[in-house]
Amino acid sequence: MTTNEKGKYTGKVAFVTGGANGIGRATALAFAREGAHVVVADIAEPGNQETAHMIEELGGQAIAVRCDVTQAEDVKAALAKTVEAFGRLDFAFNNAGIEPRKPAPTAEYEEEEWNRIVDTNLRGVFLCMKHEIPLILKQGGGAIVNTSSGAGIIGIKGSPAYTAAKHGVIGLTKAAALDYAAQNIRVNAVCPGYIDTPMMGRFTGGTAEGRAKVIAEEPIGRMGKPEEIAAAVLWLCSDGAAFVIGHAMVIDGGQTVQ
Ligand code: NAI
Repeated sequence: MTTNEKGKYTGKVAFVTGGANGIGRATALAFAREGAHVVVADIAEPGNQETAHMIEELGGQAIAVRCDVTQAEDVKAALAKTVEAFGRLDFAFNNAGIEPRKPAPTAEYEEEEWNRIVDTNLRGVFLCMKHEIPLILKQGGGAIVNTSSGAGIIGIKGSPAYTAAKHGVIGLTKAAALDYAAQNIRVNAVCPGYIDTPMMGRFTGGTAEGRAKVIAEEPIGRMGKPEEIAAAVLWLCSDGAAFVIGHAMVIDGGQTVQ
């Protein structure tokens, strides 16, 4: 499928963090298919360039920017490049995230690992919104979607930092949503279940047993596809979601329903 010149988002600009892989890449491509110009922001090069190239191959326009979301200067520079290249910012998908190195109960959790996870998965989302919002306000509004997780809804044993950070993303989303609802910026979150991405490959060890263990926790009997999260993000950015504010949308095959 190529990009759509009369797509829902033609003339709009989307900024996607963690766009070099998995959910971010699928969402960057989905925005492009609907006609948006896309900025693929990620620490991973050449993955971010590859995503931008995939968009160009679809006939869309994209730039890849190296950006570490834990560094305010990187975030500011990436957004400056966004405006320089495409003149505006309408949508932001704050999705960059990392998984824990290994599980450990709270009392044995290393402080360094806590800081690493919370820094990327929570403070990174804050830094991005802090610098995106003034740009979105400039042209009268837009939408932001932040990536939380099933771990933002339920506790995960042995994963205090990831659980706290992803719960924090939902709290941050709600606070920012209230701050800007009257100024036409809608801020929402997505909470993916187990999604088949490079992160999930590391989590399962890429083995058939590892995958089966994860799938056993999914009532639907399979992992989700990155495109299934992308579809939710695009809907949250659409006019169809015009009355949706501060919502944490769970897309998880029933994982957290049990
Ligand atoms: P992934 O590992 O496949 O992709 C994440 C991307 O984020 C990578 O390209 C990585 O380079 C980038 N990234 C990491 N740290 C960064 C930083 N400091 N600055 C900029 N970019 C950075 O992961 P996946 O699965 O696509 O995950 C995306 C988001 O979804 C993450 O926030 C993750 O926590 C969340 N999530 C994933 C689930 C899954 O089952 N795959 C389930 C629930 C949530």
